[in-house]
Amino acid sequence: MQKNLYLNQKFTKFINNENFEFDRAKILKILNSDLLEDAYKTISKWQKYQPTPLESLNKLCKELGLKNIFYKDESKRFGLKSFKALGGAYAVEKITKGRKDITVSTATAGNHGKSVAWGAKNLGLNCKIFISENVSDNRAAEMRNLNAEVTRVKGNYENSLNFCKEESKKNNWEIIQDVAWPDYELVPKLTMAGYSTMIKEISVQTNEYISHIFLQAGVGGMAAGLVAGVANYFKRVPKIIIVEPENANCVMKSIENNIPTRVDIKKESIMGGMSCGEVSLVPWQILKNSVNSCVSVSDKFVSQTVAMLADKVLSDISIEGGECSTPGITSLISCCINEETKCALEINKNSNILLIGCEGSADIDLYQKLLSEGKKLI
Ligand SMILES: Cc1ncc(COP(=O)(O)O)c(C=O)c1O
Repeated sequence: MQKNLYLNQKFTKFINNENFEFDRAKILKILNSDLLEDAYKTISKWQKYQPTPLESLNKLCKELGLKNIFYKDESKRFGLKSFKALGGAYAVEKITKGRKDITVSTATAGNHGKSVAWGAKNLGLNCKIFISENVSDNRAAEMRNLNAEVTRVKGNYENSLNFCKEESKKNNWEIIQDVAWPDYELVPKLTMAGYSTMIKEISVQTNEYISHIFLQAGVGGMAAGLVAGVANYFKRVPKIIIVEPENANCVMKSIENNIPTRVDIKKESIMGGMSCGEVSLVPWQILKNSVNSCVSVSDKFVSQTVAMLADKVLSDISIEGGECSTPGITSLISCCINEETKCALEINKNSNILLIGCEGSADIDLYQKLLSEGKKLI
């Protein structure tokens, strides 16, 4: 790999968390061990369950002079092509408790709805999905293929969620949402517990102690679920770095201000699942003290990184990584290139880095577009 292929990757902003204080007991009080372990027990019994691969980005590792770069490849998750398969479907099973007369509903940017629809289909339940104008027809079609009734709502994600809440109340449907609001915390907790399965798998996939984890965040559910997984399953606590799109850095802003802080999204990020303006309540309780640092990145490196993964620039194998899988890589590269951040994060030749490849070609048209654009840049 030629150095100039990735030396152009820079983060937009990097901050340290002045209120950092990782406390396993406190984290596991919010998402307790029983919940996390039940999630793994339940999910690992599902038909066709297999841990997703923990790949090595060996070429990038050599170039950056680190010990290991592990990449959890969620493109292989249950054929649904994203980690979200672990959350919504698990929550559907837990909330409906074997009853067949329940209709489940959700609002979604895509992957969460697919998980809920898949979970409902597996259990023979009716499923109603609400999407905004920003969700692609492809994503809608995939949820319809899983037997869900999909309704498009005018406006943004928030509009689709409000409409979903109204319709669900009117029709007595059970909302399976991945974000919390006052008096609605159980389902988001279940989805986060589902996500922690990734950490359980990693804890048996390598004997190396992970020294750093880069965790992408939208509303923070995935990041918080994985932090809880770390608290429960890892012997040593790695440095935890949150990664967000520069225009949707609500976790960074909240950590900076030490209070949940809303970001007015002026332009949606191409990393659609992460284009969120407000950190969710339960994740915030976990993330506010357990995150060491936050990094924000621009959309402009997404296509190049998709192509680098596919074309074996970073590893011996070709990896299908969608848009949200890329910013962890960009953050790692740019934090290593910058001496100040490399030093602040204590990244060195003994570092075992964990990156989360959250999704594959979950939106196939977008993936193909990014891949062909990116190939021109590598
Ligand atoms: C595909 C996808 N959707 C959504 C998210 C965001 O998850 P959350 O909103 O739980 O932070 C991510 C990663 O952060 C992602 O990769």
